[in-house]
Amino acid sequence: MAGHDKRKMTAPDLPAELKAALAAKLQGFSRSDAAARSASISRTYRDGGGSAAIRSETDALAYALARMPATYAAVTASLNALCEIAPGFAPKTLLDVGAGPGTASWAAAEAFSSLQGFALLDANAALRALALDLAAGSARLGKIDYRQGEARALLADAAAADLVAASYMIGEIGDAERRTLVDLMWAKTRDTLLIVEPGTPAGYGRIIAAREQLIASGAHVAAPCPHDGKCPLQPPDWCHFTQRLPRSRAHKQIKEADVPFEDEKFSYVALTRSPIARHPARVLAQPVVSKIEVTAKLCTAEGLAIAKIPHRAKADYARARRWRWGDAVMAED
Ligand SMILES: C[S@@+](CC[C@H](N)C(=O)[O-])C[C@H]1O[C@@H](n2cnc3c(N)ncnc32)[C@H](O)[C@@H]1O
Repeated sequence: MAGHDKRKMTAPDLPAELKAALAAKLQGFSRSDAAARSASISRTYRDGGGSAAIRSETDALAYALARMPATYAAVTASLNALCEIAPGFAPKTLLDVGAGPGTASWAAAEAFSSLQGFALLDANAALRALALDLAAGSARLGKIDYRQGEARALLADAAAADLVAASYMIGEIGDAERRTLVDLMWAKTRDTLLIVEPGTPAGYGRIIAAREQLIASGAHVAAPCPHDGKCPLQPPDWCHFTQRLPRSRAHKQIKEADVPFEDEKFSYVALTRSPIARHPARVLAQPVVSKIEVTAKLCTAEGLAIAKIPHRAKADYARARRWRWGDAVMAED
């Protein structure tokens, strides 16, 4: 990200401790079993199904191998964007809603050394068991409090947390229940609520609905939007970002992929209780760089803009050449 208030960005690949825990779990499992289960779980997801298909230990591990690196990378990219806008944010407690294998908790632990208390909740027993196994040897996550049950019921009794996260979760419940869930999550948010979804028009639709719902309840947007107003994008356009992440050998095998990386598309919103001091513009697509100019699609506090930075404006052009999709950029960037 182009930046000011530089703070360390968290890398998009899984932390070594988590990779090692996953590798240890994989020993004793047949790769071809995991690959077959992973293919079937991915198919279920593509067909609009959810994680209810994950029932056994092998299913949970197959899900984690197939999807955890990508959802981790998407949460990390979202947290990096949040940290850039709110560099002083140092949450002590996290509530990870629909935590699955603990993806968002691992990402938040990497992003915030301040985090001490990790509360997780999820309905899926197999994913919870895997999360506990993966976290067991971790210095930071060894003592997570992971409750199993329906999110809305558990949220009613959950303690409020500085940071509440729902990663790739809100799409698994119906529209009416989602509104209640979003209100409940906000009620438990002391400072910031982060919602991450797949970067599809449907995922974006859910993000934008939650965003509008909570702005009406007094929330402010920290990222990605530089304003609390209506989203200026018109269908078929939708706001999403992409994060490249390395593919492990096991992941290449499971996905039968050739390239050593994958690009995860995601949509997200980080909502805060206090108004945001700075409103840098957000780069909404990979800028086009030519010898004549840099053309960038920006979301600004005033709305959508196609910025053209001519080569003759040497310093500005040099800066704009470095802009990447997803970056927060100021005029002086
Ligand atoms: C796609 S997984 C995402 C897991 C994890 N957050 C991640 O990013 O990798 C969705 C998770 O939400 C959980 N979930 C869906 N609906 C739920 C509900 N109503 N109550 C509790 N958990 C739910 C599922 O069990 C599953 O673990």
